[in-house]
Amino acid sequence: MKTIQQHFTVAYSFPVIFTSDAFGAGSAALLRVLAGEGERPRVLTVIDSKVLRINPDLLEKLNRFAADHSAEVEILVPPLVMRGGEACKNEPGEVEKIHALVERHGLCRHSFILAIGGGAVLDAAGFAAATAHRGVRLVRMPTTTLSMNDAGVGVKNGVNAFGRKNFTGCFAPPFAVVNDFDFLRLLPARELRAGIAEAVKVALIRDRAFFDFLYASRALLAAFESEVMQRMIVRCAELHLEHIATSGDPFEFGSSRPLDFGHWSAHKLEELTQGEIRHGEAVAIGIALDSLYSFELGMIGELDLRRILATLEGIGFQLYHLALEWVDVEKSLRQFQEHLGGELSIPLLDGIGARSDRHDIDAALYRKCIKTLASRRNQTEKSDDRKKLQPDLPGDPGHLLP
Ligand SMILES: NC(=O)c1ccc[n+]([C@@H]2O[C@H](COP(=O)([O-])OP(=O)(O)OC[C@H]3O[C@@H](n4cnc5c(N)ncnc54)[C@H](O)[C@@H]3O)[C@@H](O)[C@H]2O)c1
Ligand SMILES: [Zn+2]
Repeated sequence: MKTIQQHFTVAYSFPVIFTSDAFGAGSAALLRVLAGEGERPRVLTVIDSKVLRINPDLLEKLNRFAADHSAEVEILVPPLVMRGGEACKNEPGEVEKIHALVERHGLCRHSFILAIGGGAVLDAAGFAAATAHRGVRLVRMPTTTLSMNDAGVGVKNGVNAFGRKNFTGCFAPPFAVVNDFDFLRLLPARELRAGIAEAVKVALIRDRAFFDFLYASRALLAAFESEVMQRMIVRCAELHLEHIATSGDPFEFGSSRPLDFGHWSAHKLEELTQGEIRHGEAVAIGIALDSLYSFELGMIGELDLRRILATLEGIGFQLYHLALEWVDVEKSLRQFQEHLGGELSIPLLDGIGARSDRHDIDAALYRKCIKTLASRRNQTEKSDDRKKLQPDLPGDPGHLLP
């Protein structure tokens, strides 16, 4: 018998740019990314349908950009409009449409797919880009809080299948990410808020000072104050990028997935509510649940737990959803383990700003934590009712905490 052990490494490097008015005449960021190698590449643009509906002038801006820079890049018209939101990840035909256009327009591996949209469109378009010719260059242009501070900067692409989130997908870093803050201007409040949960998540597992900033800024974040939102987005994206670059496992070959703190139950909630609850809203509940569980295990103190729950609620998240009662804890953890491969590994908090993976999970204790969230919710509702009857009743958040 003879075994030749193959070994090689591939270095990845891509820019993540934060800008505004990216298609404007005064902005060179996008052109530099697309035309940087001087090849006059072809660019297929894929746009989230809701982004286009809310920004009707986007097509005109894109056309003007294409005309102004036709010597350097060939932007194909018309762009492909992809169904926004989870619909594009649930419908296999959406990825096929991109493949068909890559084939029809003769795009090559040096061509670009410029994906403009929320995390769902970026995931689906990214999967199409990674699989056409085994990899056409992908430039992501995220348009939601969550896609700017998390989904857009990652190395994962994928769609849903068999009723399971992200069942079909691949690891493929983008060529570049261009974040244009202008897209947030017309983003509905629910979407603006949802993505902030990922910032709380990454702060809790990696950066206590960032958590302190989020705690102190919770009222400004609830009001979507633009400077604070931008600081939150940039630091959150930076922490995600740092984690991917330095964790030693960017393509998740191991069983641990620290960035999935608060996510095992969040994925279940999204499935159970069939997308009625936003990913970030589910993550906020998942963070509350995993923080409570960390507290029960003595991994964080009561004051830290109170600050975490106050941050999430101060930003405007509900920390309970009826569907939590339907979560089969054992089965959900098994499915989470199956998706990661290897032994079960749940990231929990080890104080604020650090994490510790646990492999032995006490399902009964998790059920107790779910009950705690439910009873906190009931108390909040009762307190809200009392406040309606007596508008001057002083708020007493202390009694709502476990
Ligand atoms: N690949 C990754 O690493 C990764 C990480 C986190 C999340 N995700 C995925 O990202 C998805 C969630 O992303 P999301 O939170 O951005 O939600 P989303 O993509 O579902 O977008 C939310 C809604 O907002 C609309 N929208 C997007 N941008 C808009 C804008 N500027 N103005 C108005 N409407 C706009 C969309 O059409 C959609 O209806 C999930 O599918 C999740 O699994 C992927
Ligand atoms: Zn997430």
